[in-house]
Amino acid sequence: MNFQEAIEVAHNDEAQVGFETGPVLTRIRLWDLPTRIFHWSLVAAVCVAVITGKLGGAWMEIHGKAGLTIVGLVTFRIVWGFVGSTHARFLSFVPTPSKIVAYLKGRWQGVGHNPLGAFSVLALLGLLAVQASTGLFTNDDIAFTGPLNVLIDETLAARLTGLHRQLANGLLILLALHIVAIFFYVRFKKDNLVKPMVTGWKDVPAGQSASKGGPVALMLSLVIALAAVYVASGQPFKKPAPLPVAPTNANAGW
Ligand code: HEM
Ligand code: HEM
Repeated sequence: MNFQEAIEVAHNDEAQVGFETGPVLTRIRLWDLPTRIFHWSLVAAVCVAVITGKLGGAWMEIHGKAGLTIVGLVTFRIVWGFVGSTHARFLSFVPTPSKIVAYLKGRWQGVGHNPLGAFSVLALLGLLAVQASTGLFTNDDIAFTGPLNVLIDETLAARLTGLHRQLANGLLILLALHIVAIFFYVRFKKDNLVKPMVTGWKDVPAGQSASKGGPVALMLSLVIALAAVYVASGQPFKKPAPLPVAPTNANAGW
């Protein structure tokens, strides 16, 4: 048993005391550290991207860098969704019709993203992926072009730039819903979802558990995320600088 698991067991022992009337609770590490770092870094990067995108002009350089950071973060989260810890995995929260019906009837017993929350999480990740991808091909017709703009023709670039601008509004709506939903849970359902996204820990009905994603899974996710940023930065498509041509001296001769 490693240190992390020992702490979890210790917490479990503490928390399984239970009340005579209430359910017996156990404390688990619901959101692992990589998921939490991912979430709060994403919040920072999206805020910078949205603000600098709206400001435009000289802020576009920073906008592009925030966009590339988001490419890395979203790629990391997608890979982590397959190889990460129990509740970070897409399979653990993908909203199936039976889960949605159970949730709407108040019979959903799971932990982690609830079936409706899972929709918003998947929509946010998907929209951010499309927003960042279209951004890479943009041209603001002033002084800024996305790093992959050179790979496509002007007409397509103009279309993707238009789409990028429109989707930005959709993203803002989705973000507003995300924050209102979290507030609703804290205020009216007395379920503080924010605390586990900060500390990782959550008290859940006994019998639930959570395993961590291993170091290999973490390395794999980081390497794939960095590779995605490298490709998105346009570096692999840059033509090598032409070799300097030796100056010719027209008057040379003898
Ligand atoms: C730019 C702003 C934000 C973005 C892009 C964003 C994005 C996300 C994403 C993608 C997830 C899924 C996490 C995962 O499974 O990896 C998530 C979950 C979550 N976010 Fe945010 N978020 C934002 C702002 C906030 C803010 C301001 C708060 C709280 C004050 C917050 C609280 C949470 C919580 C508590 C969860 C977990 C929800 C649950 O338990 O189902 N988020 N967010
Ligand atoms: C998820 C990441 C991104 C977000 C959230 C985002 C958000 C935004 C927003 C809010 C705007 C302003 C739209 C408006 O005028 O109302 C904008 C514009 C723009 N973004 Fe992004 N962006 C992202 C990624 C990128 C990337 C990676 C690039 C390129 C490297 C990029 C390039 C541009 C350009 C060139 C514009 C100006 C378009 C124009 O007005 O002609 N964006 N973006």
